[in-house]
Amino acid sequence: MQPLAGKVAIVTGAGRGIGQAIARAYAGAGASVCCAARTWEQVSATAASITAAGGRAFPCAVDVASEAAVQGMVEQTAEQFGGLDILVINAGVDLDAHVVEHSQIELWRATIETNLTGAYLCARAAIPYLRQRGAGKIITIGSGLGHRGQPAAAAYACSKAGLWMLTRILAQELADANISVNELIPGPVETASSSPDPQHSVAARHPTEWRKQPEDVVPLALFLATQPDRGPTAQTFSLMRRDG
Ligand SMILES: NC(=O)c1ccc[n+]([C@@H]2O[C@H](COP(=O)([O-])OP(=O)(O)OC[C@H]3O[C@@H](n4cnc5c(N)ncnc54)[C@H](OP(=O)(O)O)[C@@H]3O)[C@@H](O)[C@H]2O)c1
Repeated sequence: MQPLAGKVAIVTGAGRGIGQAIARAYAGAGASVCCAARTWEQVSATAASITAAGGRAFPCAVDVASEAAVQGMVEQTAEQFGGLDILVINAGVDLDAHVVEHSQIELWRATIETNLTGAYLCARAAIPYLRQRGAGKIITIGSGLGHRGQPAAAAYACSKAGLWMLTRILAQELADANISVNELIPGPVETASSSPDPQHSVAARHPTEWRKQPEDVVPLALFLATQPDRGPTAQTFSLMRRDG
């Protein structure tokens, strides 16, 4: 049962959390995986855990906001594994406050740079390689906040709203090339980005939600990666229990 045998994937933000779980799952399903994020030790550990389990992976230290670094990541992947079939745009940060408390414009800029510009750069670099294969998948990891917003989440919610629109536009631009572009909304997941403060924990902030571990996102990530070439595109797939 290796539904991704022969496929090559890049997973950004694969050093920990949701991205790490998806990278491991794709490798377990037979894909060769580039594990990308900024912290070398973390992506090395993810790739090492994959190779130790008999899979194929390599670590790539990259800031997705750097055009040159992203281009290098895609080229290195294609060179190492012979092409590219799947891009998971997962790298993300959540640096936020009420708008009037955005005293540091850097918080806004850093959020948009990683979550939206980074996504754009990754997609743009990957598309020529996906086209070469005659088909492909781009999966963007969105957020319910990008659909409905919330106070004290302007930068994050706007970055994810932009990512949602980028998903839909890319899907339209790439439909003729058999490249599907879909958004996966995980809903609340316990990761390093969750607050250590019990008052702001995932459980406290989302009492009615399904509170997940990163591995709970894997079945949907596998589903999206294994759809037919002319399968769903421009869609949002959510694991939440309410709108978005
Ligand atoms: N956890 C949730 O409840 C939840 C809910 C909805 C959506 N999401 C989304 O799911 C994705 C993963 O979140 P997570 O909870 O798994 O977060 P996480 O545990 O903090 O992991 C984020 C990953 O992204 C990487 N990253 C951050 N900025 C980067 C950059 N500029 N360039 C390259 N890599 C970067 C991080 O590594 P480095 O810091 O080493 O670069 C890390 O590997 C994010 O897009 C997030 O918005 C999460």
